[in-house]
Amino acid sequence: MTESASRDPAAPPEPDHWPDLGLLVRHIVETHHRYVRQAVPEITVGLHHLVNVHGPTHPSLHRVRQMFARLGEELRTHMEKEEHILFPYITELAGASARTGPFPPSPFGTVANPVRMMEDDHQDALGLIADLRELTEGYTPPLEWSSDDAACYAALARFEADLRRHIQLEDTVLFPGALDLEERLT
Ligand SMILES: [Fe+2]
Ligand SMILES: [Fe+2]
Repeated sequence: MTESASRDPAAPPEPDHWPDLGLLVRHIVETHHRYVRQAVPEITVGLHHLVNVHGPTHPSLHRVRQMFARLGEELRTHMEKEEHILFPYITELAGASARTGPFPPSPFGTVANPVRMMEDDHQDALGLIADLRELTEGYTPPLEWSSDDAACYAALARFEADLRRHIQLEDTVLFPGALDLEERLT
């Protein structure tokens, strides 16, 4: 497991107040989406190794690997939808608001429609990560595992922490901010 599967613990905390939603979009993509794209393949390699080495004595590892693969795939398509459909529109809204107009036409009616879809995806992802936590008993490696093997569970724990923060920023700051902006501009 390489270091890039973990975020820099010395990184400054992220604020919950973002006056410029365009900057918040950029931050989410450059920080959280980037991290997910790095961490998923690295953790996947680690889980393949765990299944090969410990699968016979810990059969639940097969399910852990399968569920993480599903989560990784769901997040991949989810982030693509955000980056290609919703986020460019939010960035345009933020730009229109800074220039006081004109209101950009949207391909999907109100922004509430894609926001609702993204929120549903978030609930699915949180359900999967909660199941992973339970299956791994809170990412607790068995005592007999080597430190390298245990590092894969530590990486999964960091992945959950980052995912929760990522979703919290979108659900409680970015999306309500976009809905509010759209309402003020129409
Ligand atoms: Fe996201
Ligand atoms: Fe999201």
